[in-house]
Amino acid sequence: MASPVQKVFQSAYRVFSRVTVGSSGFNDHLREVIVLASKLTATDVNFSFHDDPTTQREVEEGDRAPAVYVHLWEDRVLSMGIFVVRQGCRIPLHNHPNMHGVCKVIQGTVRVNSFSTVSSVGLEMPKNIKQDLKSSVLSLLKQEQSQFTTASRHQSVTLTTDDPACVLSPSVGNIHEMISVDGPAAFIDILAPPYDHTTGERICQYYMDCSEDTPTSSDNQVHWLRRIPAPHSFWCDSMEYNGPPLKIP
Ligand SMILES: [Fe+2]
Repeated sequence: MASPVQKVFQSAYRVFSRVTVGSSGFNDHLREVIVLASKLTATDVNFSFHDDPTTQREVEEGDRAPAVYVHLWEDRVLSMGIFVVRQGCRIPLHNHPNMHGVCKVIQGTVRVNSFSTVSSVGLEMPKNIKQDLKSSVLSLLKQEQSQFTTASRHQSVTLTTDDPACVLSPSVGNIHEMISVDGPAAFIDILAPPYDHTTGERICQYYMDCSEDTPTSSDNQVHWLRRIPAPHSFWCDSMEYNGPPLKIP
């Protein structure tokens, strides 16, 4: 009988290799992946993670990676892996262009702040951002507006092992950051199709939220996210996968 992680993998693989995104059955198939992924536990992937105090100190001093990646699978259909976000660390604001993502917490607690892009047509760049740009070399590039993505922010969610898998789509929650809460946290991440840095078709882009949060700011507020180079403070260690093997269905 297939292992729980193989069941998730084959369900996801079938959807993303055979069902056209946006077709009538797509959402039903995706729901099945979410139901199966929601049941996944750390034991199912033979995973446990602990950092000793020395490692934690090294992380704080910037000598150790804030995140660890365990590779399970990657081909042209999907990638699957486990991300660990170490204590007090985050995976900074980034996107998944034209991709779907399914994420299930298997250890600890993760806070997710996510955004959906909105059209910038007719929107005026806020004065404070214009001012900041004027005083930076960026203004020399004369492409201020094109360095920004306008987005609406979703309510922040805190996920534990008790919560179902969460989903991002090309249009909803596609830009997000993941923050560990009260210790290290780990989640299984399925991305389809995977990033493609070889052809440049789907490149991971990092962002900085330049909008000022005011006490009166509402959920409807448009956020101006500036595209930035990958932050130097963020990189990943890797760890070997010791769980059940995966096979293409
Ligand atoms: Fe992500």
